[in-house]
Amino acid sequence: MKHLAKLGAAATAAALIVSVTGCGASTTSNSGTANSATANGSTTGGSSSEPTLVLATSADYKPYEFHDTSSGQDKIVGFDIDVANAIAQQLHFKVKIVDMNFDGLIAALQAKRADFVIAGMTPTADRKKSVDFSDVYYQAENVVITKKGKNITSMNDLKGDKVAVQLGSIQENAAKAIPNVKLDSLDTIPTVVQEVLSNRADAAVIENTVATGYIKNNPQLQLNKIAGMTENGSAIAFPKGSQWTQKFDTAIEKMKQDGELQQMANKWFGGGQ
Ligand code: ARG
Repeated sequence: MKHLAKLGAAATAAALIVSVTGCGASTTSNSGTANSATANGSTTGGSSSEPTLVLATSADYKPYEFHDTSSGQDKIVGFDIDVANAIAQQLHFKVKIVDMNFDGLIAALQAKRADFVIAGMTPTADRKKSVDFSDVYYQAENVVITKKGKNITSMNDLKGDKVAVQLGSIQENAAKAIPNVKLDSLDTIPTVVQEVLSNRADAAVIENTVATGYIKNNPQLQLNKIAGMTENGSAIAFPKGSQWTQKFDTAIEKMKQDGELQQMANKWFGGGQ
């Protein structure tokens, strides 16, 4: 619950408005499939008069965005995709998903190869020089993943260690501050975790919201909480000066007020965080 940024009390009146505006769309916003694109970039849902916005993401970040092949089809799904689809439904646009490495997302916006990025991305001062951000829609904090048996309580405990991180992430920046660190920067989160599993790295710095899934599935791994870690929000990024930023903020605010965002968080993060 505390991960939802600025979540107001549920306003039932706002919930009513959502169900009315949702009328024209083919599916409900929290079904997980409305307007969603298959991994090869085709779009579904919405009416033909609606504009199509290109959503760029890095679908290596379960449960925010990841490839789901369980239906026999490669689909990008997750919390962020549900959030994007719900916004698309409110603002009447179709979504085309483009998947790329996290490190390329900001450049894709700057080159206008995407209309928006939703990728669990934290709105840092540095990134704000290059792109605009929506309001924060979810919170996370950094943790350290190691093999079982270590006792890491501060980043300094990793002094001189080989530390795996995702290239271009704020976790990479955080790891750079560790004295004598051997930085192991990789393109995707599964490969970052694999470095620890296969003892090629001593530790990985990852957000708690993503780390818990790997801990659950890999009993040989341990999640180490770091004292005094500040929270990192996730926000949606846009090319500078985009006309969509304000509209997305209005849609996000409505979803905070009417509880739709909380419902999606419960669905993908289990609610108890
Ligand atoms: N919140 C972190 C950042 O903004 C990590 C995000 C990684 N997202 C992803 N889809 N791999 O740097």
